[in-house]
Amino acid sequence: MSENARDAAMAEAEAFASIIPAGFVMGVATAAFQIEGGVHDGGRELSVWDEFSHQQGRIAGGANADVAADHFHRVSEDVALMADLGVDSYRFSFGWPRLQPGGTGSLNRQGIAFYDRLLDELLTAGISPMATLFHWDTPLELRGSWLNRDTAQRFGDYAYAVGEVFGDRVDRWVTINEPATVMLNGYALGIHAPGTTLLFDALAAGHNQLLGHGLAAQALRGASVRGDIGITNVHSPVSAVTSSDDDEAFAGLFDIVHNRMFGDAVLLGEYPDVPEAFAALLRPLVEAEPGDLAIIHQPLDFYGLNYYFPTRIAAGAGGVASPDGESSALSSLPFHLGEWPEFARTGFGWPNAPEFLGVALTELAERYGEVLPPVFITEGGVSLPDAVVLDAETGVARIGDSARIDYLAAHLQCALDATAPGGPASAVDLRGYYVWSLLDNFEWAAGFSQRFGLVHVNFSTLDRTPKESFAWLRRVLEARS
Ligand code: NOJ
Repeated sequence: MSENARDAAMAEAEAFASIIPAGFVMGVATAAFQIEGGVHDGGRELSVWDEFSHQQGRIAGGANADVAADHFHRVSEDVALMADLGVDSYRFSFGWPRLQPGGTGSLNRQGIAFYDRLLDELLTAGISPMATLFHWDTPLELRGSWLNRDTAQRFGDYAYAVGEVFGDRVDRWVTINEPATVMLNGYALGIHAPGTTLLFDALAAGHNQLLGHGLAAQALRGASVRGDIGITNVHSPVSAVTSSDDDEAFAGLFDIVHNRMFGDAVLLGEYPDVPEAFAALLRPLVEAEPGDLAIIHQPLDFYGLNYYFPTRIAAGAGGVASPDGESSALSSLPFHLGEWPEFARTGFGWPNAPEFLGVALTELAERYGEVLPPVFITEGGVSLPDAVVLDAETGVARIGDSARIDYLAAHLQCALDATAPGGPASAVDLRGYYVWSLLDNFEWAAGFSQRFGLVHVNFSTLDRTPKESFAWLRRVLEARS
């Protein structure tokens, strides 16, 4: 970007700032396994992701997260970046295997010390902490992982212990991040840890996570934490490729396993109605114990929405691969994903479709209306092939990512338009937006090949370089009324 273009971008940032309502929380988000590294430091034990990422052929480029962005050793530098950016809030996750290495028993003192330091530095910088209890790093020692119902109890116990220690400093608690992705990518398709290809038998892992969410919400309240309590679900508006009965039926099935079973269970205390044709496939939902649903249906102070892209479904096997990676299991499903030729693609190949964030919010309003608590968009962002360029005049490294600026501006605009009075999602009380992500990081099966950060990380030197999107967001945050 030339100097003139940079000036123009800053002027645009100032104009854009005026759309952000007073009191609207602007934040950035990360997750422990994706940024911390230090996997053998400070008494941490292994998680399913440590095991999975060291298996051959699982991660793009043979990468693992042993070092990742080395946040474990650079916490002060990263908090300083956030203070410079001027965000209101930081969403991070407590590493379960760092705080409670085997998934049971008392907490690890060195793990506590690490998060004590993070929280204290955030509070000193005036940044409000939003903490996720589980962002996919299940302790390896919990055999059977989320297929074992006992993991939900273990998670409840962990939540209580963490709530007791940090309950005075965390403003918002997210119990579980994207249980749908864990179930679908981790257990059904084998793209993520633990790598099983159980297809519809993976539903147990979804149900047990939901049970874990309910037990954790109860436990946090039992530990008298002072912060608000919620969950983060990923929503992808689903439509059928054609209006044929078959396409519509499979689109409905996908909507159930990706969106509705998680939203309905948590907010309505019931699983969605299952069409007769799918009753056998979805038996765990049809036969769920009412007692379990009562536990899952805890009062929530907020609902976290992650949105990345919409989904199109067509009947019949084959077709497009999963958005997150290759899976041989996909070809045995009776439906497949349709293309989105009308949208530009992100670095991941995902459709860049900001208007569907408005649709996701509208679906929340329509499905949950009165019982929907205030909503935070707990993640939104884009991976782009950012190139480091040396400025010819100054010799300073710059990362031009104007497409990220456009992406964030368009998504925020769509979310605020949809939820404004008179908008289709005006029933949604939208309270904030967290950019995924502060830093380039370990993007699960894609390893280091997909960069989502506002800050570039050189994974050889671990140097951090703020991108142009960082400068843009800083100006937006500065110029807010
Ligand atoms: C959602 C997940 O919570 C996060 O861990 C991941 O990096 C982003 N999606 C991008 O794929």
